[in-house]
Amino acid sequence: KRHLLGIRELEAEEISLILHQALSLKEIMERDIKKVPTLRGKAVVNLFYEPSTRTRNSFELAAKYLSADTINFSASGSSVQKGETLKDTAKTLEMMAIDAIVIRHQSAGAAEFLARHVRVPVINAGDGTHEHPTQALLDMLTVLVKKGTLSGLKVAIVGDILHSRVARSNIFGFTKMGSKVYVAGPGTLIPAEVERLGAVLAKGVEDAVRDADVVMPLRIQLERQKKAMFPTPGEYFKFYGIDEEKLRLAKEDALLLHPGPVNRGIELSSAAMDGPQSLINEQVKNGVAVRMAVLYMLIGGERN
Ligand code: CP
Repeated sequence: KRHLLGIRELEAEEISLILHQALSLKEIMERDIKKVPTLRGKAVVNLFYEPSTRTRNSFELAAKYLSADTINFSASGSSVQKGETLKDTAKTLEMMAIDAIVIRHQSAGAAEFLARHVRVPVINAGDGTHEHPTQALLDMLTVLVKKGTLSGLKVAIVGDILHSRVARSNIFGFTKMGSKVYVAGPGTLIPAEVERLGAVLAKGVEDAVRDADVVMPLRIQLERQKKAMFPTPGEYFKFYGIDEEKLRLAKEDALLLHPGPVNRGIELSSAAMDGPQSLINEQVKNGVAVRMAVLYMLIGGERN
């Protein structure tokens, strides 16, 4: 494929290929080889219309580790503030002889729209409530490294499923790789079509988490809600927050993942977050390897 727009359009074999490429790059990085010349002479633009800590910085580092040049573009502080459209902004950057665009945007479909209007590969770094493919890839890589497989696992995703591009990409990804994804959260934050996406709607948080191999609480995405769709943070934590007690319902060797940023004490207790089952820091590390793999596969070596 020319672009990475979502996990939904990837075959299981393609996901596997990216993960194995990322594994090789992870091994190289772990040998403290921080620079390979693979993308020397290429330029990657990080076009971010929404805030980001993990995704933007890891894409930048990934490009730099592969010796590509990077431009970090934030909508705030750019001519977007003067009314320039997404298409015109991207065209302007494309004229500067760039080789790939990494885009994060508040609108679902923005990456796909851009892919139709530029000649270079487009990588979706999160578009509205639609998809966040590299997050799901790094989540799958984290689980693959620890469990040795992505098949036959029970994955519990808990929280604001309705507004979560991470939930959607992970439902598509883990399901394609042979695992079962259970979702739970307040009724107002579960999309009506969740089972059509491939997930199982659990009867409640306990039902989702019980005997799970992977537990993934999600942040309440207040920035995407027109009005608050759950009671107070304290009440949310009591009923839906993952703490050590709820985590004990999962398998003894269950992995705790969270895409970040975490709101401690709302969707996840500090004790669980900093506990032995938490792989949140490992996810961040794996994000660099996954993004290196994606950049390499789209603008480095052979296509497809
Ligand atoms: N998980 C994630 O996308 O984090 P950032 O918003 O910090 O990039």
